[in-house]
Amino acid sequence: MGAAIVKPEELLMRSRGAELLRFSTAGSVDDGKSTLIGRLLYEARGLYEDQLAALKKDSARFKREELDLSFVTDGLKAEREQGITIDVAYRYFSTPRRHFIIADTPGHEQYTRNMATGASTADLAIVLIDAQKGVLPQSRLHAFISSLLGIKHLVVAVNKMDLAGYSEDVFRSIVKDFDAFSEKLNIQDLVYIPLSALKGDNVVKRSGRMPWYEGPPLLSHLESVHILSDRNLVDLRFPVQYVLRPDTSFRGYCGRLAGGVLRRGDELLALPSQRRTRVRSITGAGGEVEYAFAPQSVAVTLEDELDVTRGDMLVHPANLPQIRREVEALLVWMDREPLTPGKVYWLKHTTQLLKCSVARLQFRIDPGTLSRRDAAVLNLNEIGRVTVQCFRPVFCDEYSKNRQTGSFILIDPLTHATAGAGMIIERGSLPATDHPAEGSAADSRFLLPGEGTVSPGDRERLLKQKPATVWLTGLSGSGKSTVAYELERKLMAAGRLCCVLDGDNIRCGLSRDLDFSPGGRRENIRRVAEVARLLNEAGLIVITAFISPCREDRGQAGKIIGSGRFIEVFLDASVEVCEKRDAKGLYKKARAGLIKEFTGVSAPYEAPEAPALRLKTGEEPAGLSAEHIRLYLEQNGFFKF
Ligand code: ADX
Repeated sequence: MGAAIVKPEELLMRSRGAELLRFSTAGSVDDGKSTLIGRLLYEARGLYEDQLAALKKDSARFKREELDLSFVTDGLKAEREQGITIDVAYRYFSTPRRHFIIADTPGHEQYTRNMATGASTADLAIVLIDAQKGVLPQSRLHAFISSLLGIKHLVVAVNKMDLAGYSEDVFRSIVKDFDAFSEKLNIQDLVYIPLSALKGDNVVKRSGRMPWYEGPPLLSHLESVHILSDRNLVDLRFPVQYVLRPDTSFRGYCGRLAGGVLRRGDELLALPSQRRTRVRSITGAGGEVEYAFAPQSVAVTLEDELDVTRGDMLVHPANLPQIRREVEALLVWMDREPLTPGKVYWLKHTTQLLKCSVARLQFRIDPGTLSRRDAAVLNLNEIGRVTVQCFRPVFCDEYSKNRQTGSFILIDPLTHATAGAGMIIERGSLPATDHPAEGSAADSRFLLPGEGTVSPGDRERLLKQKPATVWLTGLSGSGKSTVAYELERKLMAAGRLCCVLDGDNIRCGLSRDLDFSPGGRRENIRRVAEVARLLNEAGLIVITAFISPCREDRGQAGKIIGSGRFIEVFLDASVEVCEKRDAKGLYKKARAGLIKEFTGVSAPYEAPEAPALRLKTGEEPAGLSAEHIRLYLEQNGFFKF
């Protein structure tokens, strides 16, 4: 933006500290979306012009000014650079309190990708519902996509209230319906507004026809909803977009801050080189500054000569992003060609462009019911959970923490079309209480995971298998160890490299400091899961034999190992059967009170709700149970080479 020219509109905004609110709208056919947008634009302009006229009267200094919309178009440049040219119409308007950008997407049911594109930069989403028709699949889809894309503020605009007799009952029943669906979504701020776009009720002006509604009209809500704290100003992320080298003495790194605050003198760490340096200067749009924050664009010079290039990231050494070759993500598929697991795509993440393959499609999500569906491919407009293997590490955060460093797009290498948009989600984390104390030697914020150059795919090709962890759970005496070793024997005989982690062994070594209290068991399971993950990363198939009686602990293990690799197998034998066998005489001791907190006797066992396999080990021989598991691995593509 030409900094020297001050536009009257801008002056007005600045004088009132106006911000920019981006919002997306989507509705169904004929629900009055265009009327609503038209009315917003028209009435807001009316309001705005009154203000402008008053200001202009005071002074002649605005004579040479013209309208400069570059501030709004600048924001869209990034989207264009990402190659997303999809059917989304952007509209702009302002009121004395805020600038607004509307991303308006067509209302047909199959236009998921448009909605996703429109919502990708929005602070707020308006879901339009026709009061006469109620909540349609389209409304649910839009709400789902908005929550998927991390939009924290949702407005459900119940339109055409005039045709519904301005009835509170009609409105309440829609609220009830939508609430039932939306409680499964992660929406922080959900507001319902009854309105009539056609008659102008509760759009810009409060309506006298619905005295039972006590909230604000739509525009007042848009003007006042609090969005500044939605930004991540804690974790500094500066992806370098361009290196400025006018002569050999000057090297400036340009880019847009994707998170946090950058100050002159700050110590920085460059990724991936891991070299440290300090900020010498920061230059913003208006000249040199002391500090800058996301989403400002800046040029930075550093104290030391580092070899930093496009795609690298500057961060604070005590606050690192995740450095990953493998990311788990929710993916919105945008290409007519279905997503094919195993195929190589280009991945664009912040300013990096690299090759990747979608190693696993874990499941598809049905937006109507939010339930998981098995799927071999993802078709246009479908959404699924995937594991992506990158050919180079990416420096990323979870999408819920940072919408820039937490998202990526996939590009088809042949057509160069944007094929999919991904939101990175948590792969595995420790419960908060298990984190080492801040500043302690093991505080992971100060650790940088090493990265080799051998990819998981290299190992899979060498070993001709995909790694997995077969997690056997069941009571003591249910046959876990026997089935585990039987399965190990079978797999090895078939040329598959695997190993067993067995409770009795681990508790003599790795976990010998732990007891059988709930906390001791949880830590035991966590350690085992971490070991299994390491072995999986080395390419091995792991078979674990642990009682692991707590459902939550097993869930945590699944997260650590990664849900695509974690196969929960329930050895379902009753306490009676196990106690009758009592191979180690432990039940007897437990009944005699010699062993405390013994699972099944004096401590609980929580059976899995949806294991991959449930085996009746009280009824079938261990060899047969092992065969069921072997077959499962074969049928699910773990030995497909
Ligand atoms: S877990 O609960 O933490 O998963 P794990 O599988 O490692 O248990 O260890 C279970 C083995 O420890 C049992 O097979 C049994 O031999 C022995 N054991 C000793 N005390 C207990 C107890 N209180 N409860 C269950 N198993 C026990």
